[in-house]
Amino acid sequence: MHKVERLVINYKTLEEFKKFKEYGLQELSMLEDLEENIIENDSESPFYGIYFGDKLVARMSLYKVDKKLDQYFEPKRDYLELWKLEVLPDYQKEGYGRSLVEFAKSFELPIKTNPRVKSAEFWSKMNFEPVKYDMERDKGENPLIWYPPVSSDH
Ligand code: COA
Repeated sequence: MHKVERLVINYKTLEEFKKFKEYGLQELSMLEDLEENIIENDSESPFYGIYFGDKLVARMSLYKVDKKLDQYFEPKRDYLELWKLEVLPDYQKEGYGRSLVEFAKSFELPIKTNPRVKSAEFWSKMNFEPVKYDMERDKGENPLIWYPPVSSDH
């Protein structure tokens, strides 16, 4: 099991983020916030990652969605949205992806993710399953969900 850490948002972290394919609007807006001194070493970021030495080799973004906005679970409940899970090419298939997903599961909330193409086998190994397709809601995405095990003391 690799050590998962919450990422502190600063210039160094954003430099590391550039190595990941899914670098986009969210990262650019964090860069803007840094430049305008709105954030600095923000430790409340939604990003978690794994370092190999001082190199960030895997990351994901995780945030809690309030049950009022839930469109995936029945009955509605708070859940975690997991996205931007990515392991750098030279470090794939060494358990980094699994460690991040297991870390997300440790919050014991249901999880929803939109998988990247061709990652189906990984997600099925992580015990994520498809939700019933809803054209209005999913708009071409194929969301996957995971339910925490029902605790035995109920
Ligand atoms: N195809 C089939 N099985 C895969 C897989 C893949 N692409 N990636 C991982 N697995 C399997 C592993 O073999 C392992 O199985 P095991 O427990 O039976 O040994 C299990 O899933 C966990 O693998 P792990 O080492 O934790 O995966 P990872 O660290 O490489 O993370 C991704 C998985 C998909 C998040 C990561 O590879 C990634 O970011 N890939 C980039 C792009 C992408 O989505 N590629 C998909 C393939 S083209």
